[in-house]
Amino acid sequence: MIIVLGSINIDLVFSVSRLPLEGETVIGPGYAMFHGGKGANQAVAAARYGARVEMVGAVGRDDFGCAALEALRGDGVGVGAVRRLDAPTGCAAIGLDTEGRNQIMVASGANALVSADMVPDELLDRAGVVLAQMEIPSEADWEFLRRARNSGAVTVFNAAPAGVLPEEALPFIDVLIVNEPECIAAAAAAGVDGRDAHACASGLAACCGIDVITTLGARGAALCRPDGKRLHVEGAAISPVDSTGAGDTFCGVLAACLDGGLALAEAIRRANAAGALSCLQRGARGGMPSALEVERMLAGDVH
Ligand code: RIB
Repeated sequence: MIIVLGSINIDLVFSVSRLPLEGETVIGPGYAMFHGGKGANQAVAAARYGARVEMVGAVGRDDFGCAALEALRGDGVGVGAVRRLDAPTGCAAIGLDTEGRNQIMVASGANALVSADMVPDELLDRAGVVLAQMEIPSEADWEFLRRARNSGAVTVFNAAPAGVLPEEALPFIDVLIVNEPECIAAAAAAGVDGRDAHACASGLAACCGIDVITTLGARGAALCRPDGKRLHVEGAAISPVDSTGAGDTFCGVLAACLDGGLALAEAIRRANAAGALSCLQRGARGGMPSALEVERMLAGDVH
């Protein structure tokens, strides 16, 4: 079983011909509402892939909170440990351009009140893999990862959005997933030198003894192992409609594969294919695939 501790949002997506520059207003034809939040997205990605998933987090007592819980349940994610609090449900304003690129602003709301003690010991004891990200208070993440590690779970941490990853947190992480800017930020916070994301990932893996996966967008994903071994998985040739949630899909599917007993390299191949498939539909969760769809893509049946 996988436990995801993290954010739950409603995404308001504004379609624009191009993303605004600082201080600029860009006018588009309309907007749409989708379910989002890095934590909830990763939970759904793992569940669609076939894993048993429990979400821990918080929503408000508002309509967005009801809708968010219903959507999670609809995807088979357990929500028994999601609290309803006196704060608005988290909400993201997402600008989406015609190439599928985005710009995101998040109002944390109830996510800012999440703490590690919302994860019951009985639940944690049953987890094979745990997954966390950086859209909730960081103390909640570190304490959750510490407890999960002590209970014997594999800990996967997605340091997104980029933030300070303190040295004290690193011993509790088995697999770190970052994009290139997040990798550079994580290395700087841990006092690791590196002239680019690749050097930062190798340095982090070696000095902290963790597996570091860097997602590279259209270029795929790279793994740096503590013993210096490396792996690069090529990106799939797709025409993205919406890249929102591609990283979350990668993380959720990776966790599902590890929970299912796959080796890290095989898990990365599947997560990479799933991330690409997720870009083919609108909304953070729109294109999140099943395990069968991922296998078809890997077999070359989906283009
Ligand atoms: O990673 C994508 C997610 O980031 C969106 O769903 C949005 O809610 C923000 O949390």
